[in-house]
Amino acid sequence: MTQPVHPHYLPAEDRYHNMAYLRSGRSGLKLPAISLGLWHNFGGVDTLENSRAMVRRAFDLGITHFDLANNYGPPPGSAEDTFGEILRKDLHAFRDELIISTKAGYYMWPGPYGEWGSRKYLISSLDQSLKRMGLEYVDIFYHHRYDPETPLEETMSALDQVVRQGKALYVGISNYNAEQTREAARILRELGTPCLINQVSYSMLNRWVEPDLLDAAEQEGVGLIFFSPLAQGMLTDRYLHGVPEDSRAAKPGTFLKRERITEEYLTRARKLNAIALMRGQTLAQMALAWVMRHSASTSALIGTSTVQQVEDCAATVQQLNFSAEELAAIEAALA
Ligand SMILES: NC(=O)c1ccc[n+]([C@@H]2O[C@H](COP(=O)([O-])OP(=O)(O)OC[C@H]3O[C@@H](n4cnc5c(N)ncnc54)[C@H](OP(=O)(O)O)[C@@H]3O)[C@@H](O)[C@H]2O)c1
Repeated sequence: MTQPVHPHYLPAEDRYHNMAYLRSGRSGLKLPAISLGLWHNFGGVDTLENSRAMVRRAFDLGITHFDLANNYGPPPGSAEDTFGEILRKDLHAFRDELIISTKAGYYMWPGPYGEWGSRKYLISSLDQSLKRMGLEYVDIFYHHRYDPETPLEETMSALDQVVRQGKALYVGISNYNAEQTREAARILRELGTPCLINQVSYSMLNRWVEPDLLDAAEQEGVGLIFFSPLAQGMLTDRYLHGVPEDSRAAKPGTFLKRERITEEYLTRARKLNAIALMRGQTLAQMALAWVMRHSASTSALIGTSTVQQVEDCAATVQQLNFSAEELAAIEAALA
């Protein structure tokens, strides 16, 4: 059961002592090595007090970056409502210490203007997000997925427009491949609003960025923030002894299906867990350090369901380095 949170919040004074902050591409902005995403466990169906406790603890541990999207919930939009309430109650006075992002790209409302990449959709969606969170501006506004039908010039010029309007300080793209990233970065550079970052999936179990996106981002001066670095919980100790009833794999309507917890998966996960323990880390910490080992890496964007998970993940920064032997052992475990 969730403990009630204290009504008055004063952040830890030592909150900047342990976290690492990395520059996003060739920009002026640094992000914490570990960022917190509000895709799951912050919706209208979730317990506000637990969501609130996780955000507070994250900020206490130097996690300054909170990632949202128009459609996070469920129901869609409710994670932004929840975050707005947490801001009002707890973090209002610390707005200038926070990097808050949101996105538009996936389905949000009916009709032709409620998804993809038109200027019409992006501008309306950001206005809705600002209202839900009670903010005048977000720090980063993302286009959530590449739109093959809208000219990229239109989508990028909508991003440029929101910066000029003062509704976002920086803009980014999400789920863009190497070629799309190069093209988006070029257009945004010409418009005078550089592309800050690309938010993409990456983990030991999902390595699509390795062949060309890491290099493309670095060459373009675009940062990379990696979502689902724990493969939604599969790169943690969560499933080593069965599927807990309160886990993502057990919940209906999530993208992590129970069927993925196979014997073959468990054999790999146990090997990885043993390597992590030898490094003096939890499996989650090793998985996060592993995605952060590239020079192009800006931040590992986690999700959590408990305060303990926030603490465990934040402590990753105590051991980010790998020996060649450890990396080889991980490759062997994954093979
Ligand atoms: N741009 C995009 O298209 C996109 C897509 C997906 C996600 N995202 C962003 O990325 C964020 C993270 O995604 P994600 O939630 O899939 O990431 P993830 O970090 O790979 O998975 C999070 C889950 O792992 C488990 N977990 C976390 N820390 C743990 C620990 N220390 N020990 C044991 N288990 C732990 C929890 O599972 P239980 O819930 O079972 O406890 C948690 O819900 C999202 O919130 C969102 O901001 C973006």
